[in-house]
Amino acid sequence: MDNRAIGVFDSGVGGLTAIPHLMKELPNERFIYFGDIARAPYGSKSKPVISEFTEQIVDFLIEKDVKMIVIACNTITVVTLDQLKKKYPHIPIIGIVQPAAEKVASTSNKDNNIGIIATSVTINQKAYSNAIQALNPELKVFEKSCPLFVPIIEEGLADSKIMECTVQHYLDSFVTDNSIDKLVLGCTHYPLVRKAVEKLYPHLEIINPSFEVVNRVKASLIENDLLADAPTMENSFYASSLTENFLGMVNSICNQENVYIGLKNFDTEITEK
Ligand code: DGL
Repeated sequence: MDNRAIGVFDSGVGGLTAIPHLMKELPNERFIYFGDIARAPYGSKSKPVISEFTEQIVDFLIEKDVKMIVIACNTITVVTLDQLKKKYPHIPIIGIVQPAAEKVASTSNKDNNIGIIATSVTINQKAYSNAIQALNPELKVFEKSCPLFVPIIEEGLADSKIMECTVQHYLDSFVTDNSIDKLVLGCTHYPLVRKAVEKLYPHLEIINPSFEVVNRVKASLIENDLLADAPTMENSFYASSLTENFLGMVNSICNQENVYIGLKNFDTEITEK
């Protein structure tokens, strides 16, 4: 048993979409969230920059004495998961891509046309198609980066006409030309555009990788004997910029009396080779 908090982080508000699922499935657990809003989006940044930013965040969460780290960001998982596991071998670190790829592979067949939408970094790395096809080479996977989604979401415009037009811009021909029938939201920000996607393409089966991550977190807590044994409502939410959008999302997730909101900035000096 271990009553310390679980650290969860993302480049911005995207990882907040995983928090309600984590809270629901793990009601005894306490969460410390960090969103690097001042430096988002990460999805079009270079790997050395993403790695450097990520290590700063992980160090911050470790200083807060978390017992486990959940990378609630596909981009960060793709670029840094192996590096983080090597650098921090004493703490379980859960990434988001592999659990979702396993779910997709186990519930699809060669007649499906699986679409992956994600940031440029995740798509350029072929993270999902490689992971899914490693599990079942017969599966057809099509990938599309949607780099404007995250800035629009961080602006708090997920439910706007601009968002709907942007969804059409990226997805109309992608969905039609490839006869997509399953769509994986390969960026934790994208559940916030789910409504627009469902409205425009009602035939799609939509897969939200956060659900699979929750199962993985639960399994890892059990395996490492880290489950908390007392219900708690105290959660902390830190960001490098306390935007209205972030505060609004936190308030919609948590009862304000039991929540701590903090600002955390990092001094950064990065030399790229
Ligand atoms: N939410 C992040 C992901 O899952 C990326 C957002 C960003 O580009 O910063 O990939």
